Amino acid sequence: MNRELEKRNAARAALNFVEDGMTIGLGTGSTARHFIELLAEEIKEGLIIRAVPTSEETRDLAIEHHISLIDIEQVQQIHLTVDGADEANEVGDLIKGGGGALLREKLIANASDHMVVIADPSKYVSTLGAFPLPVEVIPFGFTLTAKKIFDVLEQNGIARPKVELRQDEGEEGPFITDGGHYILDCHCSKIPDAPKLASQLCAVPGVVEHGLFISMARTLIIGGEDGATIFEF
Ligand code: 5RP
Repeated sequence: MNRELEKRNAARAALNFVEDGMTIGLGTGSTARHFIELLAEEIKEGLIIRAVPTSEETRDLAIEHHISLIDIEQVQQIHLTVDGADEANEVGDLIKGGGGALLREKLIANASDHMVVIADPSKYVSTLGAFPLPVEVIPFGFTLTAKKIFDVLEQNGIARPKVELRQDEGEEGPFITDGGHYILDCHCSKIPDAPKLASQLCAVPGVVEHGLFISMARTLIIGGEDGATIFEF
């Protein structure tokens, strides 16, 4: 299996949803990177779009590829967002935030007319939860917030959850998001009822956002080595 080819084929299939004149939300991560590179090639061929990045990393990548960006405060309408996912199930619910960009990703996906998710087959699961669920929290009192999140996970039928403060891979200390927050990675194994957990996590003081994207994706594209499979919700 060739993961990069699968991601690239998913990204290539997402180009079919792009039209001249669109404002497009650009996702974050290695699969979104493929889409950005392919989009840049289309732009070189004459496609005209404007883009809104979902992270500083994606902003830098878009600038490197000469993609015109529009300031988020100036955006009237986002026609399409194309982003990756850490897990996607058969109804299109997602876990996102492995790259730590879930807050801007959710804000931009939620403001979009159409969210297209691109992924390789390893991301397509029957039950969400094997991938640790990222929860973005404010640094103040994060230990108390983590305890409350632990309780919510247990109340949602998750046995022996583990709530871990994400560490920065490059530097010593916690990982800091683009919004200046921490991420708590919640090891759940399986999430029995993702919509219920999503609404309960939102109610915990200190939680800024969580990585459960419920009923947001309208299209899921799973790339294969020879093409892609498209699911519509
Ligand atoms: C970043 C994300 C990414 O979309 C997710 O982590 C998937 O990344 P990749 O395409 O590298 O597997 O949610 O916050």
